Amino acid sequence: MLYSATLNVMIKAARRAGRSLKRDLGEVEQLQVSLKGPRNFVTAADHRTEAILREELAKARPDYGFLGEEGGAHPGTDTTHRWIVDPLDGTTNFLHGIPHFAIAIALERNGAIAAGVIYNPANDEMFIAERGKGAFLNDKRIRVAARQRLADAIVACGLPHYGRGDLALARSEIAAAQRAFAGLRRYGAATLDLAWIAAGRLDAYWERDLSPWDLAAGSLLVREAGGFITDTDGGDAILSKGNVVAGNETMHRELLRLLREAEKAAGTEATAASP
Ligand code: IPD
Ligand code: CA
Ligand code: CA
Repeated sequence: MLYSATLNVMIKAARRAGRSLKRDLGEVEQLQVSLKGPRNFVTAADHRTEAILREELAKARPDYGFLGEEGGAHPGTDTTHRWIVDPLDGTTNFLHGIPHFAIAIALERNGAIAAGVIYNPANDEMFIAERGKGAFLNDKRIRVAARQRLADAIVACGLPHYGRGDLALARSEIAAAQRAFAGLRRYGAATLDLAWIAAGRLDAYWERDLSPWDLAAGSLLVREAGGFITDTDGGDAILSKGNVVAGNETMHRELLRLLREAEKAAGTEATAASP
């Protein structure tokens, strides 16, 4: 596959950071049996991975800005370009030695996502997209699933941490999804949920309370794979609102409708419960 120079920079950075994370996963597996556990080690691995990505990307594009989950924002002299990076998405999985986590790199150009890479080093799956040029998994073109019936479809979601987010709303949404879809999944890595929508493995996905680095690369992958992706109000403000609904045209429309109904139901319950 012939990718642009910029995509090659992103792929190279993801591979280098991925080698480091894969070594760290081996260490995590050892640390599971120690009393202290791997938590501090994983935090260090997370920061180390972001440092590698920053170094690699800056080497090739020294003027670009950088927004990373761990190190925050570093404005560049080129104000039209910015990397948006999650060095380790699926931290809880990684911490438990579950090989479902990823490195996500997006390139924002003039406020829109122009390229995205999501790489799971544990199984060497590299998802790639560039605006107007399609979406790929390990150099093979990918498309969203064609399924039209919710009763045949699998939907993935996120779950708010207890004490954070709107638990009543989440419960109402989950109940609605359970009623309508064939199966519900919670995999624990938002970037891979989106990449799996693009690859046609999952039919639909929604989640709230996410950050730009969880969504930037995956939103382009879904669109370039022919999918539909919006915020939970059906608009384009995915990165700023931090919530997302994705799937093929039918799945996206139907899930959006279900979520609206679930929101109304949660509101009615809350009103009925208040004194
Ligand atoms: C998290 C994962 C998870 C999602 C969380 C995210 P992290 O990212 O994507 O699937 O449900 O809300 O914050 O913390 O592992 O980078
Ligand atoms: Ca994340
Ligand atoms: Ca992270």
